[in-house]
Amino acid sequence: MIILLTLAIETSCDETSCAVIKDGREVLSNIISSQIEIHRRFGGVVPEIASRKHIESINNIIQEALDQAEVGFSDLDLIGVTRGPGLVGALLVGISAAKALAYGLDIPIVGVNHIEGHICATYIQHKDLEPPFTCLVVSGGHSYLLQANGYNDYELVGRTRDDAAGEAFDKVARSLGLPYPGGPFIDKLAAEGNKDAIEFPRIFLDNNSYDFSFSGLKTSVLNYIHNTSQKGEEIVIADVAASFQQAVLDVLVEKTFRLAKERNSSKIVLAGGVASNKGLRNMMKERGLEENIQIYYPNSILCTDNAAMIGSAAYFNYMGGIESKLDFKVMPNLGLE
Ligand code: KG4
Ligand code: ZN
Repeated sequence: MIILLTLAIETSCDETSCAVIKDGREVLSNIISSQIEIHRRFGGVVPEIASRKHIESINNIIQEALDQAEVGFSDLDLIGVTRGPGLVGALLVGISAAKALAYGLDIPIVGVNHIEGHICATYIQHKDLEPPFTCLVVSGGHSYLLQANGYNDYELVGRTRDDAAGEAFDKVARSLGLPYPGGPFIDKLAAEGNKDAIEFPRIFLDNNSYDFSFSGLKTSVLNYIHNTSQKGEEIVIADVAASFQQAVLDVLVEKTFRLAKERNSSKIVLAGGVASNKGLRNMMKERGLEENIQIYYPNSILCTDNAAMIGSAAYFNYMGGIESKLDFKVMPNLGLE
């Protein structure tokens, strides 16, 4: 059996990450340098600062990934890099470094779709997981419901029409005075709060739609906070967090299972930053037991942005005959289709 060593780079947002992956599933190193502390005081990611920080750290992160994997440049067989979606300047830093490596080492390169990377993170966590499966990808930038028919074969069934799920978490958290990114803080508070305390809307759209919409829910939470404080009443932050989170989860879980049952899927995969939400994982597992559907998700480090997932996606792309030319372009608005 041929063993492929992939060096992968991820710089789509505020994490500079480099990983070395053996075939598509074994992580030899996965170095993640987060810029969160730098962006936190602005309440979100500042694109220009993100690009500059990526430039400052990329070479060191690549070297660290090689050192930790105990391999050298000459051991590498393949380069993988996120080509989109993401911040254009941030993506360009990773892509330029990756192209230089592929050119200098004379090895193939794959420009990876970041969303596909999130899905492939689950292959690293669950070594025996194979398609087909139903998949929910929920992160700060995207919310997709899809059917994975093969390793590089995705059938997009639903997507958000406005805010991504993680974006809604972050905006609600901000209005509650919680730090950026707020998803993990809402998750923690929700465990202490009463999810039935406040009736927030569940936006299912029409019955047959697999699309999502979270901006109405977000507005409803902001209105609640505003009106309650205008009346001089106490806002119980944990109850707001729990009630908001439940409204998001009810829709995500219901639609994911509806699709899984429609397609006779025996497996559901959760991916993206929001897949580390404990409430989501628990609700999915409980429902999975009832419906006899197995639930898979990566550990928290592999859920949020990291280069290991990009390495896995690059490997499965390459094995499927997909390779990029050295002049491939950055695609900030890349979707899944
Ligand atoms: O996948 P990711 O690292 O970046 C994107 O590709 O967007 O996802 C980051 C998002 C943020 O919105 C963050 O608040 C959310 O994932 N997130 C969570 C949790 N951990 C991260 N949302 C809810 N609960 C969590 N435990
Ligand atoms: Zn991501």
